[in-house]
Amino acid sequence: MTVSETESENRQSRAECVAEEALRPHAEHAFAGELAALAAVDDRPRPVRWRLSPWAVATYLLGGVLSDGTVITPKYVGPRRIVEVAVTTLATDRALLLLGVPGTAKTWVSEHLAAAVSGDSTLLVQGTAGTPEEAIRYGWNYAQLLAHGPSRDALVPSPVMRAMAQGMTARVEELTRIPADVQDTLITILSEKTLPIPELGAETQAVRGFNLIATANDRDRGVNELSSALRRRFNTVVLPLPATAEDEVDIVSRRVDQLGRSLDLPSVPDGMAEIHRVVTVFRELREGVTADGRTKLKSPSGTLSTAEAISVVTGGLALAAHFGDGVLRASDVAAGVLGSVVRDPAADRVIWQEYLETVVRERDGWKDFYRACREVSA
Ligand SMILES: Nc1ncnc2c1ncn2[C@@H]1O[C@H](COP(=O)(O)OP(=O)(O)O)[C@@H](O)[C@H]1O
Ligand SMILES: [Mg+2]
Repeated sequence: MTVSETESENRQSRAECVAEEALRPHAEHAFAGELAALAAVDDRPRPVRWRLSPWAVATYLLGGVLSDGTVITPKYVGPRRIVEVAVTTLATDRALLLLGVPGTAKTWVSEHLAAAVSGDSTLLVQGTAGTPEEAIRYGWNYAQLLAHGPSRDALVPSPVMRAMAQGMTARVEELTRIPADVQDTLITILSEKTLPIPELGAETQAVRGFNLIATANDRDRGVNELSSALRRRFNTVVLPLPATAEDEVDIVSRRVDQLGRSLDLPSVPDGMAEIHRVVTVFRELREGVTADGRTKLKSPSGTLSTAEAISVVTGGLALAAHFGDGVLRASDVAAGVLGSVVRDPAADRVIWQEYLETVVRERDGWKDFYRACREVSA
């Protein structure tokens, strides 16, 4: 082995170390084993520069057992067709727009799709009201620019530009928060598949394998409406809220388990009863009716999404670990539930009190939860 080989190996193992220590590893690192196992058994045709076939990408997202016995954990719990349409779109010349209310796993699905298709989920532009055109096109290294004038060396490519040049998947988060004129930068990229660089009289052409996944929030509708020219470049896939309470409990417990392991929190199985209650409360208030369909409820202003249920339960497990007996109990989640439900201190508090007194209080086996909620609500 030559010196430079050893050195590059050292560097790689150091990078792997950092990735392992990362508070939140990227999907392609966290699930590297599953992705490798899929690639090994995957004998279906792969689109150019795809790491996996569309079938294997869908299996990675939905979970399954491979012919060699490897278990692929489900990342997305929901209708299979949604995932199939999303994956197929990425193999066409249209880009993918994931639309849905907050917490429906748009970001999560986008990350896992990019990881499975391109092996890299980090070519990411975060959309905000202040996202400049340079974040989507390219910027300049000003020291270089002033010293030597515009050149390829002075150019700082955006993640989208890098994805185009390398035939990878680019991601744009919260597309509709980006001002309309900046959004329109994407039209040329998505229709002509090129990014002109007038300063150099040059362009970067997208190579095969390039595509783009954007996410947008249903609730932002009307903030910066997508222009119809841009919308035509996208195939829109709407991610629904979990269909049943069981699905939602499944999603929450899986995700909490993953998060909890990296934080050394108590195990989830002992806390299933509490997870069930948090999900029930969230669903009932969100839907405005009790699970048995008997009592109409008022919905509070918060979104009470699955993602919020996940953070309430994770917070509860941390309380149980550090200040309780290590088992998730009603008193560990009560404050979190209250914080998610009561966003508007006046109106939401009334809705919460009413729910507490008319529904929670009367429910069999919920006495401890009622008491815990009363304590934190006082
Ligand atoms: N249907 C689902 N399947 C799997 N995980 C889900 C689902 N819905 C929500 N989640 C979980 O909730 C979180 C959703 O967060 P995120 O992707 O940021 O939502 P969004 O971008 O839609 O606001 C993720 O941690 C994900 O694990
Ligand atoms: Mg998101």
